[in-house]
Amino acid sequence: MALPNAVDPMQELLDAQSHVWNLIFSYISSMSLKFAIQLGIPDVIHKHNKPITLCELANALSINKAKSPALFRLMRILVHSKIFDKVSISKDEGKGDDEEVAYSLTSASRLLLREEPLSFAPFALAMIDPILADPFHQVTEWFKDECTSPFSTRNGRCLFEFIGNDSVFNQVFNEGMASDARFVGSILVDKCKHVFEGLTTLVDVGGGTGTVAKVVADTFPGLKCVVLELPHVVAGLEGSENLSFVSADMFEFIPPADALFFKWIFHDWSDEDCIKILERCKEAIISSKKKGGKVIIVEMVVDCQKQEDEGIETQLCMDMLMMTVTTGKERSEKEWAKLFHAAGFPNYKITPILGLRSVIEIFLS
Ligand SMILES: C[S@@+](CC[C@H](N)C(=O)[O-])C[C@H]1O[C@@H](n2cnc3c(N)ncnc32)[C@H](O)[C@@H]1O
Repeated sequence: MALPNAVDPMQELLDAQSHVWNLIFSYISSMSLKFAIQLGIPDVIHKHNKPITLCELANALSINKAKSPALFRLMRILVHSKIFDKVSISKDEGKGDDEEVAYSLTSASRLLLREEPLSFAPFALAMIDPILADPFHQVTEWFKDECTSPFSTRNGRCLFEFIGNDSVFNQVFNEGMASDARFVGSILVDKCKHVFEGLTTLVDVGGGTGTVAKVVADTFPGLKCVVLELPHVVAGLEGSENLSFVSADMFEFIPPADALFFKWIFHDWSDEDCIKILERCKEAIISSKKKGGKVIIVEMVVDCQKQEDEGIETQLCMDMLMMTVTTGKERSEKEWAKLFHAAGFPNYKITPILGLRSVIEIFLS
């Protein structure tokens, strides 16, 4: 006779199968999110101003009516993923007992509204774009070849060189980064003002189209902000009184400044490359001749101790993305500290204020 709490081997097998199936199919959740954004479902629900029925949603989306059952299935998985909420509403405005299902937004889908100032729909679309997703099919091949990343195995060149030669994806990528930068920029100037106080010149290295630099420049009119970027990113962009754009290679030159800002740059590069960039930072701070110069970094600090946390899974997925499309990685505090010491920055301070990311300040003394 089996003991009451003994594990049933058949049940264990079935649970294991279910776990593996969940992993096999989890990319379909990302894809479903993509369809919802592309179809504009969050925007339609938002515009409707109250929970929307499937029929109303299908009409507002102007989709082929024969596809309504497919729309139901898409909404069902997105309700399960907590992107939308499902509520019951009365069919004839309270006159009868008949109830009908209707959909409403959650705090997650509010972030996907196109007209929401802090929308990260462009970020989601860039990250799920086939140009970033396809190289995952080359990872096995890459483990055996000499290429620096699966992205290079697939495309014969590195990500940033590829983007420089693909004007369509250049726009998709830059808009994606800018949408994340709006989100981060608004939190930085709200919750981390002290990080920028007292500075005279700040260079946002690899600062994309200048979204964070613009927010910082507007908040601190006395701070001179410079965005240093590759030519295809900043071509035609205009600055303002205290914001300018410089087209340069950060491995070659970073202009003198008492603060260098890097958001999502170091995770794109190997330790050797990061040390080279940090050495350019040291030269920039020393030649600015200002006391108290520092490097401000916005990146993840991976903490594998928090295994139960959903966030660690996201951090590890991001690390796999970096492994697949760049030569970089997501780093633990120990790995960051090693990097800073190797580049001659003895002191650092981590402020975990940005959810899955932190603000890391590093100092020469
Ligand atoms: C992941 S994106 C981050 C953009 C921006 N910092 C943000 O987080 O919104 C990396 C950026 O680094 C820039 N970049 C890559 N190589 C560079 C180089 N050698 N010199 C300057 N910028 C570079 C890319 O053009 C790209 O915009």
